[in-house]
Amino acid sequence: MARIAHLSDIHFGAHDPRIVTAAEAWLQQSQPDLIVISGDFTQRARRDQFRQASAWLNRLRAAGMKMLVVPGNHDVPLYDPFRRFGAPLRRYKRYISNDLCPYYEDDAVAILGLNTARSLTIKDGRINHDQMRRLRDRFARVAPDKTRILVTHHPLFAMPIGRGGELSEAVGRHEDAVEAAREAGIHIALAGHFHRTYAEAAHRMVADAGGALVIQAGTATSTRLRNAEPQSFNWLHVHRQDSVELQVVIWDGASFQRGHHVAYVRSTDGWTAQEIDDPRALAGIRIAQRARA
Ligand SMILES: [Fe+2]
Ligand SMILES: [Fe+2]
Repeated sequence: MARIAHLSDIHFGAHDPRIVTAAEAWLQQSQPDLIVISGDFTQRARRDQFRQASAWLNRLRAAGMKMLVVPGNHDVPLYDPFRRFGAPLRRYKRYISNDLCPYYEDDAVAILGLNTARSLTIKDGRINHDQMRRLRDRFARVAPDKTRILVTHHPLFAMPIGRGGELSEAVGRHEDAVEAAREAGIHIALAGHFHRTYAEAAHRMVADAGGALVIQAGTATSTRLRNAEPQSFNWLHVHRQDSVELQVVIWDGASFQRGHHVAYVRSTDGWTAQEIDDPRALAGIRIAQRARA
């Protein structure tokens, strides 16, 4: 079992310092096996914003925490044409991570991060064919019993995040990216960008999407909220490939509190959700675990 804290859209420069401190304390206390941060570390990719983000990450690393991080569109300078087109991720590489294709594996999970932030598409993301090849190749070498997780800033899939349930933009080259994820056997796709929490089985959103469970994180610490949804992050317990618990940890104005708790169980029909307070949800996890034993 892997315990993963999935944060996104930290946005130093448009952050609430109290919430940043509270998130750090929560992580230090909970000691996840891995912290995943799916991009937008800064608000405008300015040096002082990257320095603040770097100091925060370094404090977490100094406390012994492992991390897998990818950049977001806000980590590419928008108003500086020289940097935006000449060296769009130079500051990200210097202050956050040099690795734009990070990979983590333990005895339960294999996790690959891909960079979807681009200079030309100011807010929309894109995946290129070289990244799709890496996605297929990397997971082809993973033991078949491990849970395969993909991390991007922009979600691969369009999702109903508008007030009226209207669909969002999907990542550029969406159909090829979805096919690559399906061929790579991705079980869970983690992303951010919309500052909205959301979880849904991919096959209910896109035809031929394969077996992925799509999990979106809200903004963990930014003051820029969508539809007044409070700051939050995701707390995941991955019980191998066919059962995952997701709990959204929500800022209530004074502290982070564990909220909605759902178990996702995968069968031949794909992922289905059950409230964790419902005893059938925990029974589903126990049945899946017994079936593997
Ligand atoms: Fe963002
Ligand atoms: Fe973003």
